Amino acid sequence: MRIDILSLFPGMFAGPFDASIIARARESGAVEIAIHNPRDYTEDKHHVVDDYAYGGGPGMVMKPEPIFDCVDAVQAMTEPRAKVVLLTPQGRLLTHEVVAELAAEPRLILICGHYEGVDERVREHLCEDEISIGDYVLSGGEPAAIVLVDAVTRQQPGVLGSELSLEEESHAQGLLEYPQYTRPAEYRGHAIPDILLSGHHAEIAKWRRRQSIIRTARRRPDLLAKADLTDEERQLATDAAHAINDE
Ligand code: ADE
Repeated sequence: MRIDILSLFPGMFAGPFDASIIARARESGAVEIAIHNPRDYTEDKHHVVDDYAYGGGPGMVMKPEPIFDCVDAVQAMTEPRAKVVLLTPQGRLLTHEVVAELAAEPRLILICGHYEGVDERVREHLCEDEISIGDYVLSGGEPAAIVLVDAVTRQQPGVLGSELSLEEESHAQGLLEYPQYTRPAEYRGHAIPDILLSGHHAEIAKWRRRQSIIRTARRRPDLLAKADLTDEERQLATDAAHAINDE
């Protein structure tokens, strides 16, 4: 998959894209990431990328021309045409389902807004999708683009050590993940659950499934509506929500 990012502050991506899973995914070719500055697509002497808002009001608005020209140039760099996505607090929320949908695209162009926003014509006539990473306002789309790239990259085939990790992690099945422990088996007087030392894989899998359901019922009951649960598991969730079945 190829992801092109348009940003007035390319330096913001240096750390996150050069470490850990994203760095490895880039090295292996599972994901190709390129950053482009719309300022390089201005034609005036001062490379102006923003201007006052028509109608007045505080703050500056990103001009349409450098963004349109930059996207045109980036689209022309390779095939197929990329889906163009604007990062904005007004977009649809980035959930597990939206990540999976975007991860299946062969190419994405992510536009990071800044200042008071971008000229509405960018939204209307250039972008096919608008994504928000949460109901709060960031100073620019860059941190949101980093979040999106991270989430989409770990969905690419071969990026995680084991494809099983993807299926088991939080949200993959509409549930939060079960608790994880590593050595030592007892630390500062806190022992890990006995079942994990039993060596009974089927029993451990059952325990983990129950823990996922209890945890989700208590922390994120809103997720349960969409989760695929048996009648018995639904009852477990109801009991857990009422703090019965404590284990
Ligand atoms: N730009 C500013 N705030 C944002 C948010 N919450 N999500 C995506 N892009 C943004």
